[in-house]
Amino acid sequence: MIRSVVMDASWVRSVALLEEQISLSPWSVEMLLEELRLGAWLQGLVVGERSLVGYAVARPLFDEWHLLTLGVAPESRRQGLGRRLVEALLAEVVRQQGRCVVLEVRISNEPARLLYQGLGFVTVGRRRGYYRFGPDGPEDALVMTAVPGRTGCSEGMDKFFLA
Ligand SMILES: CC(C)(COP(=O)(O)OP(=O)(O)OC[C@H]1O[C@@H](n2cnc3c(N)ncnc32)[C@H](O)[C@@H]1OP(=O)(O)O)[C@@H](O)C(=O)NCCC(=O)NCCS
Repeated sequence: MIRSVVMDASWVRSVALLEEQISLSPWSVEMLLEELRLGAWLQGLVVGERSLVGYAVARPLFDEWHLLTLGVAPESRRQGLGRRLVEALLAEVVRQQGRCVVLEVRISNEPARLLYQGLGFVTVGRRRGYYRFGPDGPEDALVMTAVPGRTGCSEGMDKFFLA
């Protein structure tokens, strides 16, 4: 059985190890600890005692939540775990009376884009060269937002992102 855990600092090393495996720009232990210090929410999906198979890291900035990183171990993909993590985030945002969620996603990352779209996220902008390392050099990010229960952030947000 795969269980959900709200992670504290003792999980950060496991998250960083998975990040190294699956991300072109992995979050380090130090970066994750700093996010925790700043009030980040870390959700994990765990098999057995402490075997981490998925994680999401998000942080509120006032009432706007930023999804900082999300990952599912390669051998555990396409079983609904990514969706479960994003749904847990949306539930947390509602619980904490947040307004919306914002994230960046690589333009080439179709699995993640489809996951977010399926959960009501809409694209509101593009950041050129946001990722220093991509398959062919720097890569653009799409900016996506969702309001739990609706789609898109508040009116005017799109202007802010469309540079
Ligand atoms: C993106 C990621 C988190 C998806 O995790 P997952 O557990 O495989 O996703 P789920 O099984 O919950 O899939 C939910 C939906 O996402 C979409 N999706 C996920 N993987 C997909 C793929 N390989 N191809 C097409 N669509 C995909 C589908 O719409 C899917 O719904 P469906 O299964 O009903 O068709 C995972 O591929 C991953 O860790 N990738 C590397 C890290 C990453 O890209 N993180 C996001 C950074 S913004």
